[in-house]
Amino acid sequence: MFDVNHIRQDFPILSRKVKGFPLVYFDNAATSQTPKQVIDVITDYYSRYNANIHRGVHALSQEATEAYENSRHYIQNHFNALHPHEIIFTSGTTHSINIVASGYASLLKPEDELLVSAMEHHSNIVPWQMLCEKTGAILKVIPMTSLGTLDIEAFGTLLTSKTRLVFVNHVSNALGTINPIKTIIDQAHQVGAHVLIDGAQASPHIKADVQALDVDYYVTSAHKLCGPTGVGMLYGKEALLLKLPPYQGGGEMIEEVTFEKTTYASLPHKFEAGTPHICGGIAFGAALKYLNKIGFETIAAYENDLLNYATAALLAIEGLKIYGQADHKTAVISFNLEGIHPYDVGSILDQLGIAVRTGHHCAQPIMDYFKIPGTVRASFSFYNTKEEIDRLVAGVRKAQAMLQ
Ligand code: ALA
Repeated sequence: MFDVNHIRQDFPILSRKVKGFPLVYFDNAATSQTPKQVIDVITDYYSRYNANIHRGVHALSQEATEAYENSRHYIQNHFNALHPHEIIFTSGTTHSINIVASGYASLLKPEDELLVSAMEHHSNIVPWQMLCEKTGAILKVIPMTSLGTLDIEAFGTLLTSKTRLVFVNHVSNALGTINPIKTIIDQAHQVGAHVLIDGAQASPHIKADVQALDVDYYVTSAHKLCGPTGVGMLYGKEALLLKLPPYQGGGEMIEEVTFEKTTYASLPHKFEAGTPHICGGIAFGAALKYLNKIGFETIAAYENDLLNYATAALLAIEGLKIYGQADHKTAVISFNLEGIHPYDVGSILDQLGIAVRTGHHCAQPIMDYFKIPGTVRASFSFYNTKEEIDRLVAGVRKAQAMLQ
Protein backbone atom coordinates (compact mmCIF):
# COMPACT_ATOMS: atom_id res chain seq x y z
CA MET A 1 0.00 0.00 0.00
CA PHE A 2 1.26 3.48 -0.90
CA ASP A 3 1.45 5.62 2.23
CA VAL A 4 2.46 9.17 1.33
CA ASN A 5 3.13 10.15 4.95
CA HIS A 6 5.55 7.27 5.28
CA ILE A 7 7.22 8.19 1.96
CA ARG A 8 7.58 11.83 3.05
CA GLN A 9 9.75 10.74 5.97
CA ASP A 10 12.37 9.65 3.41
CA PHE A 11 12.81 13.29 2.30
CA PRO A 12 14.47 15.42 5.00
CA ILE A 13 13.93 18.64 3.05
CA LEU A 14 10.15 18.27 3.17
CA SER A 15 10.11 19.00 6.90
CA ARG A 16 11.74 22.44 6.56
CA LYS A 17 9.96 25.75 6.72
CA VAL A 18 10.11 28.51 4.12
CA LYS A 19 9.07 32.07 5.07
CA GLY A 20 7.55 30.66 8.26
CA PHE A 21 5.39 28.06 6.47
CA PRO A 22 5.95 24.34 5.98
CA LEU A 23 7.54 23.98 2.54
CA VAL A 24 5.25 23.01 -0.33
CA TYR A 25 7.55 21.88 -3.11
CA PHE A 26 5.80 21.96 -6.48
CA ASP A 27 8.85 22.54 -8.69
CA ASN A 28 9.57 18.88 -9.31
CA ALA A 29 9.85 19.27 -13.08
CA ALA A 30 12.81 21.60 -12.51
CA THR A 31 14.47 19.24 -10.06
CA SER A 32 13.23 16.54 -7.72
CA GLN A 33 14.07 16.20 -4.03
CA THR A 34 16.46 13.57 -2.71
CA PRO A 35 15.46 10.75 -0.35
CA LYS A 36 17.75 9.79 2.54
CA GLN A 37 18.41 6.43 0.85
CA VAL A 38 20.20 8.33 -1.95
CA ILE A 39 21.79 10.89 0.40
CA ASP A 40 23.21 7.91 2.37
CA VAL A 41 24.76 6.46 -0.79
CA ILE A 42 26.46 9.81 -1.48
CA THR A 43 27.68 10.13 2.12
CA ASP A 44 28.91 6.54 2.11
CA TYR A 45 30.88 7.10 -1.11
CA TYR A 46 32.71 10.17 0.24
CA SER A 47 33.13 8.63 3.72
CA ARG A 48 34.47 5.24 2.68
CA TYR A 49 35.67 4.78 -0.90
CA ASN A 50 36.13 8.07 -2.75
CA ALA A 51 38.71 7.30 -5.47
CA ASN A 52 39.18 7.63 -9.20
CA ILE A 53 37.84 4.79 -11.32
CA HIS A 54 39.31 2.53 -14.02
CA ARG A 55 42.75 3.80 -13.08
CA GLY A 56 44.09 2.27 -9.88
CA VAL A 57 45.11 -1.12 -8.63
CA HIS A 58 44.38 -0.03 -5.08
CA ALA A 59 41.34 -1.18 -3.12
CA LEU A 60 39.49 2.12 -3.04
CA SER A 61 39.74 2.58 -6.80
CA GLN A 62 38.49 -0.95 -7.36
CA GLU A 63 35.56 -0.47 -4.98
CA ALA A 64 34.60 2.80 -6.66
CA THR A 65 34.93 1.25 -10.14
CA GLU A 66 32.77 -1.69 -9.13
CA ALA A 67 30.05 0.52 -7.65
CA TYR A 68 30.07 2.79 -10.72
CA GLU A 69 29.87 -0.10 -13.18
CA ASN A 70 27.22 -1.87 -11.08
CA SER A 71 25.17 1.28 -11.28
CA ARG A 72 25.57 1.30 -15.08
CA HIS A 73 24.24 -2.30 -15.11
CA TYR A 74 21.31 -1.31 -12.93
CA ILE A 75 20.46 1.58 -15.27
CA GLN A 76 20.85 -0.76 -18.28
CA ASN A 77 18.35 -3.19 -16.76
CA HIS A 78 15.98 -0.44 -15.74
CA PHE A 79 15.75 0.86 -19.32
CA ASN A 80 16.10 -2.66 -20.76
CA ALA A 81 19.10 -1.79 -22.93
CA LEU A 82 20.70 -4.78 -24.63
CA HIS A 83 24.26 -4.00 -23.45
CA PRO A 84 25.71 -2.11 -20.46
CA HIS A 85 28.03 -0.18 -22.81
CA GLU A 86 24.98 1.33 -24.52
CA ILE A 87 24.55 3.42 -21.35
CA ILE A 88 26.91 6.41 -21.48
CA PHE A 89 27.20 8.47 -18.29
CA THR A 90 26.96 12.17 -19.08
CA SER A 91 26.51 15.35 -17.07
CA GLY A 92 22.79 15.36 -17.91
CA THR A 93 20.25 15.50 -20.70
CA THR A 94 21.75 18.61 -22.32
CA HIS A 95 25.20 17.00 -22.49
CA SER A 96 23.67 13.78 -23.88
CA ILE A 97 21.88 15.63 -26.68
CA ASN A 98 25.01 17.61 -27.52
CA ILE A 99 27.03 14.38 -27.84
CA VAL A 100 24.61 13.08 -30.47
CA ALA A 101 24.15 16.41 -32.26
CA SER A 102 27.88 17.03 -32.49
CA GLY A 103 28.48 13.47 -33.69
CA TYR A 104 26.13 13.90 -36.63
CA ALA A 105 28.14 16.86 -37.95
CA SER A 106 30.27 14.46 -39.98
CA LEU A 107 27.34 12.20 -40.89
CA LEU A 108 24.99 14.77 -42.50
CA LYS A 109 25.06 16.57 -45.82
CA PRO A 110 23.40 19.82 -46.93
CA GLU A 111 19.65 19.45 -47.62
CA ASP A 112 19.29 16.54 -45.17
CA GLU A 113 16.23 17.20 -43.03
CA LEU A 114 15.81 17.08 -39.26
CA LEU A 115 12.43 17.18 -37.52
CA VAL A 116 11.96 18.77 -34.12
CA SER A 117 8.68 18.96 -32.22
CA ALA A 118 7.07 22.32 -31.48
CA MET A 119 7.07 21.56 -27.75
CA GLU A 120 10.77 20.98 -27.09
CA HIS A 121 12.90 22.36 -24.30
CA HIS A 122 15.65 24.61 -25.65
CA SER A 123 18.16 21.83 -24.97
CA ASN A 124 16.48 19.78 -27.69
CA ILE A 125 16.36 22.66 -30.17
CA VAL A 126 19.57 24.69 -29.97
CA PRO A 127 22.13 21.85 -30.40
CA TRP A 128 20.31 20.83 -33.61
CA GLN A 129 20.23 24.41 -34.90
CA MET A 130 23.97 24.53 -34.32
CA LEU A 131 24.29 21.24 -36.23
CA CYS A 132 22.27 22.69 -39.13
CA GLU A 133 24.53 25.75 -39.24
CA LYS A 134 27.57 23.47 -39.50
CA THR A 135 26.19 21.06 -42.08
CA GLY A 136 23.59 22.91 -44.15
CA ALA A 137 20.91 20.46 -43.00
CA ILE A 138 17.37 21.85 -42.68
CA LEU A 139 15.37 21.91 -39.44
CA LYS A 140 11.60 21.46 -39.76
CA VAL A 141 9.01 21.69 -37.00
CA ILE A 142 6.31 19.14 -36.13
CA PRO A 143 3.37 21.41 -35.23
CA MET A 144 1.32 21.42 -32.04
CA THR A 145 -2.43 21.68 -31.43
CA SER A 146 -4.13 24.10 -29.03
CA LEU A 147 -4.54 21.22 -26.53
CA GLY A 148 -0.77 20.96 -26.37
CA THR A 149 -0.52 17.71 -28.31
CA LEU A 150 1.58 16.98 -31.39
CA ASP A 151 -0.07 16.98 -34.80
CA ILE A 152 0.82 13.43 -35.79
CA GLU A 153 -0.84 13.73 -39.19
CA ALA A 154 1.37 16.71 -40.02
CA PHE A 155 4.36 14.73 -38.75
CA GLY A 156 3.51 12.03 -41.31
CA THR A 157 3.58 14.54 -44.15
CA LEU A 158 6.88 16.08 -42.97
CA LEU A 159 8.63 12.70 -43.05
CA THR A 160 10.41 12.11 -46.38
CA SER A 161 13.35 10.14 -47.66
CA LYS A 162 15.44 13.24 -46.81
CA THR A 163 14.61 13.00 -43.08
CA ARG A 164 17.68 11.83 -41.19
CA LEU A 165 16.81 12.58 -37.58
CA VAL A 166 13.72 13.19 -35.46
CA PHE A 167 13.87 14.52 -31.89
CA VAL A 168 10.91 14.74 -29.56
CA ASN A 169 10.44 14.78 -25.82
CA HIS A 170 8.70 11.82 -24.17
CA VAL A 171 6.96 14.33 -21.87
CA SER A 172 6.80 18.11 -22.31
CA ASN A 173 8.39 19.97 -19.38
CA ALA A 174 6.12 22.99 -19.85
CA LEU A 175 2.79 21.24 -20.54
CA GLY A 176 3.13 17.72 -19.13
CA THR A 177 1.92 16.16 -22.42
CA ILE A 178 2.95 12.52 -22.83
CA ASN A 179 3.82 12.17 -26.51
CA PRO A 180 3.04 9.06 -28.60
CA ILE A 181 6.70 8.22 -29.00
CA LYS A 182 6.23 4.63 -30.20
CA THR A 183 4.16 5.87 -33.16
CA ILE A 184 6.73 8.58 -33.88
CA ILE A 185 9.64 6.12 -33.74
CA ASP A 186 7.92 3.55 -35.97
CA GLN A 187 6.94 6.13 -38.60
CA ALA A 188 10.42 7.71 -38.60
CA HIS A 189 12.03 4.30 -39.06
CA GLN A 190 9.90 3.69 -42.14
CA VAL A 191 11.86 6.45 -43.92
CA GLY A 192 15.16 5.38 -42.38
CA ALA A 193 15.45 8.31 -39.92
CA HIS A 194 17.00 7.96 -36.47
CA VAL A 195 15.04 9.11 -33.41
CA LEU A 196 16.27 10.75 -30.21
CA ILE A 197 13.80 10.90 -27.33
CA ASP A 198 14.36 13.41 -24.53
CA GLY A 199 13.22 11.42 -21.51
CA ALA A 200 14.14 13.99 -18.83
CA GLN A 201 10.55 14.68 -17.79
CA ALA A 202 9.30 11.14 -18.35
CA SER A 203 11.89 9.18 -16.37
CA PRO A 204 10.53 10.05 -12.89
CA HIS A 205 7.07 8.80 -13.86
CA ILE A 206 7.34 6.30 -16.73
CA LYS A 207 9.68 3.34 -17.11
CA ALA A 208 10.84 3.42 -20.73
CA ASP A 209 11.83 0.12 -22.37
CA VAL A 210 14.29 1.15 -25.06
CA GLN A 211 14.19 -2.21 -26.86
CA ALA A 212 10.39 -2.38 -26.95
CA LEU A 213 10.33 1.22 -28.18
CA ASP A 214 13.10 0.43 -30.67
CA VAL A 215 14.36 3.96 -29.97
CA ASP A 216 17.77 4.95 -31.34
CA TYR A 217 18.77 7.36 -28.55
CA TYR A 218 17.08 8.00 -25.20
CA VAL A 219 18.46 10.62 -22.81
CA THR A 220 17.70 11.70 -19.27
CA SER A 221 19.06 13.35 -16.10
CA ALA A 222 19.37 11.80 -12.64
CA HIS A 223 18.23 14.93 -10.78
CA LYS A 224 14.73 14.68 -12.22
CA LEU A 225 14.30 11.26 -10.61
CA CYS A 226 15.50 11.76 -7.03
CA GLY A 227 19.21 11.58 -7.90
CA PRO A 228 21.87 14.31 -7.82
CA THR A 229 22.43 17.10 -10.35
CA GLY A 230 25.35 16.93 -12.76
CA VAL A 231 24.82 13.38 -13.98
CA GLY A 232 22.64 11.76 -16.61
CA MET A 233 22.71 9.24 -19.39
CA LEU A 234 22.79 8.80 -23.10
CA TYR A 235 21.36 5.48 -24.24
CA GLY A 236 22.22 4.68 -27.84
CA LYS A 237 21.95 1.53 -29.90
CA GLU A 238 25.36 -0.12 -30.04
CA ALA A 239 25.60 0.02 -33.85
CA LEU A 240 24.88 3.76 -33.86
CA LEU A 241 27.22 4.62 -30.98
CA LEU A 242 30.02 2.74 -32.73
CA LYS A 243 29.62 5.00 -35.78
CA LEU A 244 29.19 8.24 -33.81
CA PRO A 245 32.48 10.19 -33.47
CA PRO A 246 33.54 11.08 -29.90
CA TYR A 247 32.42 14.40 -28.48
CA GLN A 248 35.41 15.27 -26.33
CA GLY A 249 39.01 14.14 -26.40
CA GLY A 250 40.93 13.39 -23.25
CA GLY A 251 41.97 10.73 -20.78
CA GLU A 252 40.12 7.44 -20.50
CA MET A 253 38.52 7.73 -23.94
CA ILE A 254 41.56 6.45 -25.82
CA GLU A 255 43.04 3.11 -26.77
CA GLU A 256 46.46 4.41 -27.80
CA VAL A 257 47.92 7.91 -28.08
CA THR A 258 50.97 8.93 -30.11
CA PHE A 259 51.71 12.35 -31.58
CA GLU A 260 50.98 10.89 -35.00
CA LYS A 261 47.62 9.28 -34.26
CA THR A 262 45.21 8.38 -31.48
CA THR A 263 42.82 5.46 -31.51
CA TYR A 264 39.68 5.57 -29.39
CA ALA A 265 38.58 3.32 -26.60
CA SER A 266 35.65 0.96 -26.95
CA LEU A 267 32.14 1.81 -25.72
CA PRO A 268 31.16 3.32 -23.34
CA HIS A 269 34.58 4.89 -22.64
CA LYS A 270 34.82 6.57 -26.07
CA PHE A 271 32.22 9.06 -24.80
CA GLU A 272 33.39 9.34 -21.20
CA ALA A 273 36.55 11.47 -21.40
CA GLY A 274 38.00 12.77 -18.15
CA THR A 275 37.11 11.92 -14.56
CA PRO A 276 33.35 11.49 -14.46
CA HIS A 277 30.86 12.36 -11.71
CA ILE A 278 31.63 9.04 -10.00
CA CYS A 279 29.51 9.52 -6.91
CA GLY A 280 26.70 10.90 -9.10
CA GLY A 281 26.78 7.85 -11.34
CA ILE A 282 26.50 5.58 -8.32
CA ALA A 283 23.69 7.70 -6.83
CA PHE A 284 21.83 7.69 -10.19
CA GLY A 285 21.43 3.91 -9.91
CA ALA A 286 20.46 4.22 -6.24
CA ALA A 287 17.74 6.74 -7.11
CA LEU A 288 16.24 4.41 -9.73
CA LYS A 289 16.39 1.59 -7.17
CA TYR A 290 14.46 3.77 -4.71
CA LEU A 291 11.77 4.54 -7.31
CA ASN A 292 11.51 0.92 -8.40
CA LYS A 293 10.94 -0.11 -4.80
CA ILE A 294 7.87 2.13 -4.71
CA GLY A 295 6.94 1.01 -8.25
CA PHE A 296 6.42 3.13 -11.34
CA GLU A 297 2.79 2.11 -11.74
CA THR A 298 2.07 3.09 -8.14
CA ILE A 299 3.86 6.44 -8.66
CA ALA A 300 1.96 7.18 -11.89
CA ALA A 301 -1.43 6.28 -10.39
CA TYR A 302 -0.88 8.42 -7.27
CA GLU A 303 0.44 11.40 -9.24
CA ASN A 304 -2.46 11.13 -11.69
CA ASP A 305 -4.86 11.39 -8.77
CA LEU A 306 -3.03 14.55 -7.61
CA LEU A 307 -3.21 15.94 -11.16
CA ASN A 308 -6.98 15.40 -11.43
CA TYR A 309 -7.59 16.86 -7.97
CA ALA A 310 -5.47 19.96 -8.65
CA THR A 311 -6.84 20.49 -12.18
CA ALA A 312 -10.44 20.53 -10.92
CA ALA A 313 -9.62 22.83 -7.99
CA LEU A 314 -7.63 25.31 -10.10
CA LEU A 315 -10.18 25.41 -12.91
CA ALA A 316 -12.79 26.42 -10.33
CA ILE A 317 -10.94 29.75 -10.05
CA GLU A 318 -12.49 32.31 -12.36
CA GLY A 319 -10.05 33.71 -14.93
CA LEU A 320 -7.59 30.84 -14.55
CA LYS A 321 -6.47 29.16 -17.76
CA ILE A 322 -4.52 25.91 -17.99
CA TYR A 323 -2.12 25.43 -20.92
CA GLY A 324 -1.73 21.82 -22.01
CA GLN A 325 -4.88 19.73 -21.84
CA ALA A 326 -3.78 16.49 -23.43
CA ASP A 327 -5.60 13.32 -22.40
CA HIS A 328 -2.26 11.79 -21.46
CA LYS A 329 -0.33 14.05 -19.11
CA THR A 330 2.08 13.76 -16.23
CA ALA A 331 1.31 15.77 -13.09
CA VAL A 332 2.27 19.18 -14.49
CA ILE A 333 -0.10 22.15 -14.53
CA SER A 334 0.93 25.28 -16.40
CA PHE A 335 -1.51 28.11 -15.84
CA ASN A 336 -2.10 31.86 -15.83
CA LEU A 337 -4.56 34.18 -14.15
CA GLU A 338 -6.19 36.58 -16.56
CA GLY A 339 -4.44 39.95 -16.61
CA ILE A 340 -1.77 38.96 -14.07
CA HIS A 341 1.89 38.28 -14.84
CA PRO A 342 3.00 34.73 -13.86
CA TYR A 343 6.05 36.12 -12.05
CA ASP A 344 3.82 38.09 -9.66
CA VAL A 345 1.77 34.99 -8.85
CA GLY A 346 4.94 32.97 -8.25
CA SER A 347 6.33 35.67 -5.93
CA ILE A 348 3.20 35.68 -3.77
CA LEU A 349 3.18 31.87 -3.62
CA ASP A 350 6.82 32.00 -2.52
CA GLN A 351 5.85 34.30 0.37
CA LEU A 352 3.51 31.48 1.44
CA GLY A 353 6.25 28.83 1.32
CA ILE A 354 5.02 27.36 -1.98
CA ALA A 355 7.66 26.67 -4.65
CA VAL A 356 6.51 26.79 -8.27
CA ARG A 357 8.37 27.74 -11.44
CA THR A 358 7.35 30.80 -13.42
CA GLY A 359 8.49 31.97 -16.86
CA HIS A 360 8.96 30.32 -20.23
CA HIS A 361 10.38 27.08 -18.77
CA CYS A 362 13.16 27.04 -21.40
CA ALA A 363 10.45 26.39 -24.00
CA GLN A 364 9.95 29.81 -25.61
CA PRO A 365 8.35 28.41 -28.81
CA ILE A 366 5.48 27.00 -26.70
CA MET A 367 4.91 30.40 -25.09
CA ASP A 368 5.02 32.06 -28.53
CA TYR A 369 2.43 29.57 -29.77
CA PHE A 370 0.05 30.52 -26.95
CA LYS A 371 1.06 34.23 -27.25
CA ILE A 372 1.97 34.51 -23.57
CA PRO A 373 5.18 35.61 -21.81
CA GLY A 374 5.18 32.52 -19.62
CA THR A 375 3.13 30.53 -17.15
CA VAL A 376 3.04 29.53 -13.51
CA ARG A 377 3.96 25.85 -13.43
CA ALA A 378 3.09 23.51 -10.57
CA SER A 379 4.66 20.10 -11.04
CA PHE A 380 3.82 17.33 -8.58
CA SER A 381 5.68 14.30 -7.32
CA PHE A 382 4.65 11.15 -5.45
CA TYR A 383 5.70 12.80 -2.15
CA ASN A 384 3.18 15.64 -2.54
CA THR A 385 -0.28 15.62 -0.97
CA LYS A 386 -3.78 16.92 -1.60
CA GLU A 387 -3.42 19.13 1.50
CA GLU A 388 -0.48 20.82 -0.23
CA ILE A 389 -2.60 21.30 -3.34
CA ASP A 390 -5.26 22.95 -1.15
CA ARG A 391 -2.57 25.40 0.02
CA LEU A 392 -1.60 26.10 -3.60
CA VAL A 393 -5.20 26.79 -4.58
CA ALA A 394 -5.70 29.08 -1.58
CA GLY A 395 -2.43 30.84 -2.46
CA VAL A 396 -3.51 31.39 -6.07
CA ARG A 397 -6.84 32.81 -4.89
CA LYS A 398 -4.97 35.13 -2.53
CA ALA A 399 -2.63 36.24 -5.33
CA GLN A 400 -5.60 36.94 -7.56
CA ALA A 401 -7.31 39.01 -4.88
CA MET A 402 -4.13 41.03 -4.24
CA LEU A 403 -3.14 41.60 -7.85
CA GLN A 404 -6.45 42.11 -9.65
N1 ALA B 1 14.08 21.68 -17.58
C1 ALA B 1 13.80 22.08 -16.25
C2 ALA B 1 12.42 22.65 -16.10
O1 ALA B 1 11.56 22.36 -16.87
C3 ALA B 1 14.84 22.93 -15.67
O2 ALA B 1 12.20 23.41 -15.17
